[in-house]
Amino acid sequence: MKIAIDGPAAVGKTSVGRALAEEFGGRFVETGKMYRAVALAFDRGIPLDEIRIEVTTAERFLLNGEDVTDRLHTPEYDQKSSQVATLPEVRVRLVELQREIAEQGDVVMEGRDIGTVVLPDADVKLFLRATPEVRARRRVAQREEDDYEATLAELGRRDERDASRAVAPLKPARDATIIDTDRKTLAEVISAASNLVRERLGKRWRGG
Ligand code: DC
Repeated sequence: MKIAIDGPAAVGKTSVGRALAEEFGGRFVETGKMYRAVALAFDRGIPLDEIRIEVTTAERFLLNGEDVTDRLHTPEYDQKSSQVATLPEVRVRLVELQREIAEQGDVVMEGRDIGTVVLPDADVKLFLRATPEVRARRRVAQREEDDYEATLAELGRRDERDASRAVAPLKPARDATIIDTDRKTLAEVISAASNLVRERLGKRWRGG
């Protein structure tokens, strides 16, 4: 079974995705970390064709064998990953890796283009939305050192790049279910997403 979760930065995709993977038994894959790992590799002077990214089932991200997971979620790599994500050759490589992982078994995969490009045949497609202001507040709460105005501006720059890139711009797949999360708590969003998956999959999901 494949579940695709897409949406802009800091909308809650990771929390929702992990919760669904735990409830329904699939492997959770955060594809944004792959773009972050490529940005880190470029900083280290590694050319694209020598970059090898592996993702363990424990959600550790290896760059040419080194565990770089804890270096990826920083304001610096928020921006740099968003820039490398505009490069078609990077996207081709990462989409290939994402599809390989999805072929290995049940997955809950989150990103920007999972429902539209990576897994167009996903069993369930969710698209989470929230205003930039709400997302900035959530991000500030999550990363305690961040400043609200700077975070809002940072999200605006990434939204702009996500929406305007020529390859795989951020948009809901035609058959995605949109969840507006502005007025919902995380628990309410997870519950809405979980109900949707149950409805959609019925008895097909193991244990369902
Ligand atoms: O989800 P995230 O914030 O960790 O993603 C980092 C950047 O990677 C994001 O600004 C856009 C890009 N990205 C993408 O273009 N496609 C994906 N499937 C996932 C992330």
